[in-house]
Amino acid sequence: MTDRLEITVSRYHQAREAFRQKELRQALYDEGEVVMSDVLVNLHGADHQARRRLENRLFRKDTHRLYEREFFPPVVAATLAPHAANGHAELVTLSHELMMNLAAFTAGVDRPHGTREETMRLYDYLMLFIQGATLAHYTGDRTAKREEVAQALAAFESEFLRPSIQRRRVLLAAVEDGSGEEADLPRDVLTTLLRNDAELHLPSEVVLRETCFFLLAGAHTSATAFVRTLHNVYAMGEEHPEDFEQACTDLAFLQRCVHETVRLQPSSPIAMRYALGEADLLGEVHIPAGAFLIIDLMAANRDPSVFGEGAHDFDPHRLLEPGVAPWGLSFGLGMHACIGQDLAAGIDPMGHPVGDDHLYGLVPVAIRALLDAGGRPDPADPPTMDPDNSRGYWGRYPVMFPA
Ligand code: HEM
Repeated sequence: MTDRLEITVSRYHQAREAFRQKELRQALYDEGEVVMSDVLVNLHGADHQARRRLENRLFRKDTHRLYEREFFPPVVAATLAPHAANGHAELVTLSHELMMNLAAFTAGVDRPHGTREETMRLYDYLMLFIQGATLAHYTGDRTAKREEVAQALAAFESEFLRPSIQRRRVLLAAVEDGSGEEADLPRDVLTTLLRNDAELHLPSEVVLRETCFFLLAGAHTSATAFVRTLHNVYAMGEEHPEDFEQACTDLAFLQRCVHETVRLQPSSPIAMRYALGEADLLGEVHIPAGAFLIIDLMAANRDPSVFGEGAHDFDPHRLLEPGVAPWGLSFGLGMHACIGQDLAAGIDPMGHPVGDDHLYGLVPVAIRALLDAGGRPDPADPPTMDPDNSRGYWGRYPVMFPA
């Protein structure tokens, strides 16, 4: 680990170029293989292309519209209601529960009993999968954690995955023999994988990990963005009450607050690649074969030559040059560009007024629901950071709701 060659890029244009290089393979999850081995974000070349092409079919505008407008609003309302009725909530738990409910839908993990106990068991699995995927950042005993995650995967498979597969196989067989309708098929990743079994030839443990990966990729990133944006919006309100008011009433502005938060605090502060062959970034950085490249997203997203002198500030009114995304490079680019970006953060209106068909993304929609319910920080119980992780997550974020 110590004698390997590591090169870091921190400038926006170099980082952008690095994401596009075909000689650079994914290396961020090399330690998290217990959950991440052979999942989409870890594949390279033709294997990646084949799986991505199939999974892309699910992540289209019509599916996003269905999710954002029809499937998710009742899930958001049902998840929030008991917390709002209690008068208080802890946002780190609430956001993961909420985003897990949404991500389970996208991944294709059924909860046949529909009980709170069942949801909380899935939640416990999810939290372990997150720790498994981010083992490189885990500050405790990694070997013990890896073993715990492996056991959780096996238990999750028998409790949740097998019944979900069984239900989908019955529906797929019905469509095949003409007794069922295409419209009866769930629009989720698991159905996509099972339907394309013959083309993909995925061993059952890869189907297991791919489903878990979508569950955690969808839930954890969005939950983190949810809490961080709320924190930024609350803090903004202390100095600029009119901006807080706008965030509560103008969903396009709230969407911009999410993008600005994701720019300043990417879900992972770095991306990492391994050079399969030599690569060159704009004639400025040479990467020899066998080197590791660290793409410092936190720095690239705050590059003053692109985001201005106030690049470190949270400023949802920030003006950007054409071609610069308001979230910086936080959704990646190139072959591994986030497949769930539009679903989570909507479409960038690029400074134009939004129309009726505009998609805002699930994170802004969920934050708006919390603000509408009156969720505000609890002055008697201030938020604290998570001491077990070096990625800068909130550990607890208590809020209160009006009676
Ligand atoms: C705020 C929310 C999110 C953020 C900040 C985020 C960020 C990212 C980033 C940075 C990458 C690229 C990783 C790399 O190149 O090394 C990525 C890839 C990916 N994301 Fe997201 N993501 C978010 C939401 C989602 C959601 C909701 C889903 C699922 C529905 C999702 C699924 C994926 C998948 C499957 C990949 C791998 C794509 C590939 O390798 O082809 N993400 N995400």
